[in-house]
Amino acid sequence: MQMPAPGARWYCRRPPALPPTSVRAVLEPSMVDLSLPISERMKTAAGRRNRPLLSVLAPLGPPLRRNWPRVILTIIAGLGKFMLPLVVGYAAKVVIDALSAAHLSSDEQTQILMTWIGWSAAAMVGCAVATYFRASWGQKLSARIQHALRRRLFYHLQRLGMEFFGKHHAGALGSRVSSDIQHVAMVIDRGLIMFIMDFATIALIAVILAYTNLILTIVAFSVLALSAASVAYYAPKLRRQRKAVQETQSAITGRAAETFAGISLVKAYAGEASTGRAFSDHSMVLREMQEYTSRLQGRFNSVSLTLVMAAQMAVLAVGGWLAIHHPDTLSIGALVLFLTYLRWVEGSVQRVVDGMIQVQDGMAALDRLGDMLALHPDPVERPNGDKPEQLRGDVRFQDVNFAYQPEVPILCNFNLHLESGKTYALVGPSGGGKSSLCKLMLRFHDPQLGKVTLDGHDLRELDPNWFRSRVAVVLQDPVMFSTTIEENIAFAADGVGHEHVEHAARLAQAHEFIMSLPEGYQTRLGERGVNLSGGQRQRIALARALLRDPCLLILDEATSALDSVTEHAIQKVIDSLRGSRTIIIIAHRLSTVKNVDEIVVVERGQVTELGSYAALVKGGGTFARLVHEQTLG
Ligand SMILES: Nc1ncnc2c1ncn2[C@@H]1O[C@H](COP(=O)(O)OP(=O)(O)OP(=O)(O)O)[C@@H](O)[C@H]1O
Ligand SMILES: [Mg+2]
Repeated sequence: MQMPAPGARWYCRRPPALPPTSVRAVLEPSMVDLSLPISERMKTAAGRRNRPLLSVLAPLGPPLRRNWPRVILTIIAGLGKFMLPLVVGYAAKVVIDALSAAHLSSDEQTQILMTWIGWSAAAMVGCAVATYFRASWGQKLSARIQHALRRRLFYHLQRLGMEFFGKHHAGALGSRVSSDIQHVAMVIDRGLIMFIMDFATIALIAVILAYTNLILTIVAFSVLALSAASVAYYAPKLRRQRKAVQETQSAITGRAAETFAGISLVKAYAGEASTGRAFSDHSMVLREMQEYTSRLQGRFNSVSLTLVMAAQMAVLAVGGWLAIHHPDTLSIGALVLFLTYLRWVEGSVQRVVDGMIQVQDGMAALDRLGDMLALHPDPVERPNGDKPEQLRGDVRFQDVNFAYQPEVPILCNFNLHLESGKTYALVGPSGGGKSSLCKLMLRFHDPQLGKVTLDGHDLRELDPNWFRSRVAVVLQDPVMFSTTIEENIAFAADGVGHEHVEHAARLAQAHEFIMSLPEGYQTRLGERGVNLSGGQRQRIALARALLRDPCLLILDEATSALDSVTEHAIQKVIDSLRGSRTIIIIAHRLSTVKNVDEIVVVERGQVTELGSYAALVKGGGTFARLVHEQTLG
């Protein structure tokens, strides 16, 4: 065992580089400063610049590639749905021209009428079939893409570092995985597919109209081009603002989830009014943002639709003039065709305008998704990390310097050797760094300088999932999931039978209380195990740890909430586990660490004393003083 060597602090010499701006924007808590004016809040919440369109759409690439036949079929069905009705409009033109043509006999006129009624009926049937497949294939495609993205995001988020989770509300992350992904589906359904269908239909209309009368087509589409320009102008602005709204929405979801998770505290301190006020302030921010966005949306809607009507008026004016003065260039039927098709174009523009808010919601959600996916797992995972066959649990801290924030050092040149086969107790004042040592051993964080080794392997070289599967830990604040007790104990231990679960529960002194519950091991726990006492939660967490056969067993205040009889029984079990493994017990109640091989006193991130219980008490240092105070107390 080496004692810590004095030395310069790492954070003075080499401050860690800050992550790039886009990543920093995501790392920062999403709730914005209430004192800022609304336009500034929008910018803070959304980040000042939109990412390039292709980079925003990038996450859609893999699921779209995987489902490309369905994408093509949906687009074809959509094209059928939108284009086939054009036949009816064209039929009207042909029939009107035929009826007003003096040189045609009534038989010929009837013949033309029947032919085009036949074409229209066929188009109607085709349109009905296409509409059905457009809807059903479109929904299936959307469900598949949502599933693929939801899964990818969930797996990715789980791999991010603890720093990330320290800065994001669990509720807000939940909303990203659920509602954000739903918004993203809009980009495909109301966005990509709908836009392709609408633009293809408008292009076909343009071709038919140009074939009918070029001048009138140029007049109509010159005015419509302004409408396209307004889409290009407003879409990026709307996207940025929708992103700001979503950021604030998920921050509010997180805040609400946090309040309800801590509802017992809120009630116990009669904090309803103050939490209500804080929530209402943030909800007001969202309201202001939504109002601000709706003003922009209103301007966009009004400009776009006015331009479509202007196109119709221009066609009526120029077309009417042509029909009066040059009837040979434009028939009445052709003028009707222009006006009918421009109504179609109006419908398409209306859909684009109405869909714009949903699509921009989706684009904003996609942008946020891209921000998240751009974050790298922290600590960095080495691809194909080492997986040594045997691990004995020999842990070494070598010149470790560690801080959560650069300006607040936690460990400075920390050295400690925990030998396999021995039991250690980490003791010392609160905030001394005991739990931080455990987090480093689990590689929740990497030291900024120095290294932590397991059986001589730097933890950074090992496959994190592999070595963690050989470690068992009871965290200071045991985590429970809202599933059955059996599933909580067998968590992440695949293929373990009930008898093993029960054996572990017996060792952890939990079997009796579990059996006293109406549904025994199948009792479902409330969220975070709220329907259990603190001591019961600790015993389930202990059973979960004992179920494994770990090379390193870490118990961070694992028995602090237990009565002394139960705690004594558990100590005996832990004593019996000694062997080819390392056991680390963190405890404030010093009577519980009498039997360990070595006691490590950790104060202000340093090992200040090390030795057996008897030796340290005899030594008369901090440990002896703590024992003395506890005995007196
Ligand atoms: N996630 C975190 N981010 C920033 N600082 C942290 C974080 N976790 C712990 N700290 C700080 O690190 C220091 C050591 O904390 P640690 O939890 O390791 O202490 P401890 O010895 O386990 O205390 P206790 O006996 O109260 O559990 C404390 O000053 C604490 O404020
Ligand atoms: Mg602690």
